[in-house]
Amino acid sequence: MTEKIFLLGFMGAGKSYWGRQLAERLQLPLYDLDEQIVEAEGRTVAEIFTEKGEVYFRERERDFLHRLAEKPAFLLSCGGGTPCYFDNMAFMNQTGLTVWLNSSVSVMVERLLRKKYKRPLIAGLSDEALTVYVTQKLAERRPFYEQAKLILNTDALTADHFVEKIIHA
Ligand code: S3P
Repeated sequence: MTEKIFLLGFMGAGKSYWGRQLAERLQLPLYDLDEQIVEAEGRTVAEIFTEKGEVYFRERERDFLHRLAEKPAFLLSCGGGTPCYFDNMAFMNQTGLTVWLNSSVSVMVERLLRKKYKRPLIAGLSDEALTVYVTQKLAERRPFYEQAKLILNTDALTADHFVEKIIHA
């Protein structure tokens, strides 16, 4: 089994939640790409977007992706946009096992409504506009997410089943 696992998915797909569940069961160290950037920059993701711009954030995201990928074994919870910039998706596929957590729009919107303010791309949207945004953005990003080696619908997924799929992949 490859020991370099990238968790991918849209905002609100449950990457952090599943990261914690799997790290314990697979006994792998868990990293969060956003957290690494936030720590290094000493600012929140929202502040980085406002003060330095999204292009700067995407460059840092790529740098940290490459840096973390050098570790011998890990579970990495990526940002929702990580697979969609530069050659990040190809790089992750060459490096290890990519897993797309494919959740339904309604489940993601439900989760995001409570945590909009943390995410600069959706912070300014009304609750009604959020469903439209998630639907459109997901359609744009789907071609990237679909390149993942393992695709799992997380709406009714159990941790045991998830671990089994990863071991078989
Ligand atoms: C983003 C998702 C966020 C964070 C940034 C941009 C995106 O991560 O990287 O706000 O482009 O979808 P989460 O998916 O962990 O919210």
